[in-house]
Amino acid sequence: MANLSVEIAGIRFPNPIMPAAGPPVRDARAILRCAAGGAGGLVSKTISTRAATPPIPNIAEIPHGMVNTELWSELPPEQWIDREYALAGGTGLPFIVSLGYSADDIAWLAPRIRPFADAVELSTHYIGEDAGPMIAAIGAAKAALDVPVFVKLSPLGREMVRAAEQAESAGADGIVAINSFGPVLAIDPDTRLPYLGGSDGYGWLSGPALKPLAIRCVRDIARAVDVPVIGVGGVGRGIDAVEMLMAGASAVQVCTAAMLHGPAIFGRIAHELDLWLDEHGYASAAELTGLALAAMPAAWSAGQPVVHEGPCNGCDLCAMACPYDAISVVDKLAVIDLAACARCGLCVTRCRRGAIEWVPEVPVA
Ligand SMILES: Cc1cc2nc3c(=O)[nH]c(=O)nc-3n(C[C@H](O)[C@H](O)[C@H](O)COP(=O)(O)O)c2cc1C
Repeated sequence: MANLSVEIAGIRFPNPIMPAAGPPVRDARAILRCAAGGAGGLVSKTISTRAATPPIPNIAEIPHGMVNTELWSELPPEQWIDREYALAGGTGLPFIVSLGYSADDIAWLAPRIRPFADAVELSTHYIGEDAGPMIAAIGAAKAALDVPVFVKLSPLGREMVRAAEQAESAGADGIVAINSFGPVLAIDPDTRLPYLGGSDGYGWLSGPALKPLAIRCVRDIARAVDVPVIGVGGVGRGIDAVEMLMAGASAVQVCTAAMLHGPAIFGRIAHELDLWLDEHGYASAAELTGLALAAMPAAWSAGQPVVHEGPCNGCDLCAMACPYDAISVVDKLAVIDLAACARCGLCVTRCRRGAIEWVPEVPVA
């Protein structure tokens, strides 16, 4: 068994998989289910100075993801402060309290949640493109708290790397990236209406469709800042967590997959991560952090696809997909015509059997 524990801003997590702010942590009972499901840390649903009243309906599953127009917690902050945080405590797991949004909101909330939080996470989802309100919110949190203050960034138009740098300069102890992406629109062909309520039917995208954007943001932020990054967006399996850690995350949060598959997913992802580490000869999860931050070697771009005879069963998937008609299946074996091959690389990921490998720097025959 590999060592799954990670340390972030001085806090030790027994494993790097935890819930993201959202329905899986909507109250104390839900949070305790995440702990029982094997999470390595806990995060609570974002609260603000008043209860949210989101449009209904506000969550829909779509192919490859989910759209939602939930806001922050629909429970009043007083209920969290008087009841939910205390009930969710005592698990022994680090507890990150998510707060939103303005400096005034944070100044009111932070002293009240102080007894319960091992760290806080400030959502920047509703404070616009300008960095000023985010910086002011960080200031308000730092003034009231002596625990680490993480800042959760939304993939809005505002350049995320710049926002992360500004958050770090303002005193943030870590970056959580990313929140759901939007606005987006999904329409139900049967009703001809958007799945989601609200005046425009807009929603925010999460789940597998979000993962490549999240990975890009995590890697670019991790390159730019010295504080730890917690990655979130589209993680549902151990291999997703591997990718997120390699992109530079020190830990990983999960929302959509936990909504769809239940809180046991935290332990399942941690277990799959453990198996992957063992199989690939790593002693710890922490070793993965940032492995994909290195610059691309020139030899990679000079490479080409190569078919391995053993695993290839001539299924034709690669040949059908090749945009250059460079692959044919001969006697149940994919054969690549390198004169026609444009080195686009699609066949490598299209193959379901790992039979086509991108080999750097193979001299062209
Ligand atoms: C229904 C729903 C509600 C959410 N509520 C919050 C929230 O209150 N605060 C927050 O910071 N992020 C919220 N998020 C965003 C998630 O925490 C997460 O950043 C995003 O969904 C990407 O991760 P995922 O692909 O694992 O879901 C919510 C997401 C969903 C789907």
